[in-house]
Amino acid sequence: MDQKVDQIKKEINCFHAKNYEDLEAFRIKFLGKKKGILTVLFKKLKKLPIHERKIFGNVINDLKKKVQKKIQIDHSKNFIKDEDENFDPTIPGKSVVIGSLHPISIIKNRIIDVLKKIGFSYVEGPEIEDDWHNFTALNIPIDHPSRDMQDTFFLCKNPDIVLRTHTSSVQIRYMKKNSPPSRVLSVGKVYRNETISSRSYFMFHQAEGFYIDKKVSFSDLKQTIHYLITSLFGEVKIRFRPSYFPFTEPSAEVDIYNNHTGWLEIMGCGMIDPEVLKNVNVDSEIYSGFAFGIGIERVALLIYQIDDIRIYFDNDIRFLRQFQSDF
Ligand code: DAH
Repeated sequence: MDQKVDQIKKEINCFHAKNYEDLEAFRIKFLGKKKGILTVLFKKLKKLPIHERKIFGNVINDLKKKVQKKIQIDHSKNFIKDEDENFDPTIPGKSVVIGSLHPISIIKNRIIDVLKKIGFSYVEGPEIEDDWHNFTALNIPIDHPSRDMQDTFFLCKNPDIVLRTHTSSVQIRYMKKNSPPSRVLSVGKVYRNETISSRSYFMFHQAEGFYIDKKVSFSDLKQTIHYLITSLFGEVKIRFRPSYFPFTEPSAEVDIYNNHTGWLEIMGCGMIDPEVLKNVNVDSEIYSGFAFGIGIERVALLIYQIDDIRIYFDNDIRFLRQFQSDF
């Protein structure tokens, strides 16, 4: 028996498959269901007395593992087909085309990276939202005129379900589950019922940041926005313009100065309205916070000078392969 085992072991060790057929023949020879050498030995085991059964069982099992390992390793090889006898190893290899990140993903990663450095953690929220998270909890009750600017896609059968119009709904989802302090960033798609043109589309991307803690003030907001913008664009002129959003008070829009376009609005921001904090059971006597929402396509427009939003979503490979990223 020992001699037989040695011989089998030798045969397994010496085997080298030249192609997949060889490998399959090898498998059948040793592990074939009916006549495989090891299969037959396994069957014979049953007839041995119990102490021998254990010893030989182990030996055969080891052999089986050897065969399996051999098959696994050889399988991962790319066999050169037999007919490729004229294979010329001096011919350069086939080049593999590696994809590149979409410009929106590049900007998204950059924003995450910049804000991560000052303690913002990244979360995601659902694109299919309900009315309360998207509007009501953000101080935009039904019939509020600002809903008109954010008409979106509703389900006729259940108008309570909407495609989110902004990432501000993530503030609500996060604050409901986590008590302050919170320093959070979220990036994702948002949807609006817009007439499609070079400047507007039914879908775009936003990054939403918010920070809630004791004694958070407008100067913290300004400092954070300044840091974010200069990290993205270098030293540029920044302007805070008073504005209105139902969920922040006071509110501002931020413009940056660009030689081609002059002042360009790039984001909305403000101090989170106490009413919003109340809706998520945060005590506004103790906590305050700021929030901001930034349009990713807008940022990409400035960095890459792409002035037609539709091109981001056309999947034109000639456009997409132009972007290189360090991320
Ligand atoms: N949600 C706003 C929009 O889509 C953008 C925005 C403005 C977000 C002010 C904010 C904010 O967090 O504080 O138009």
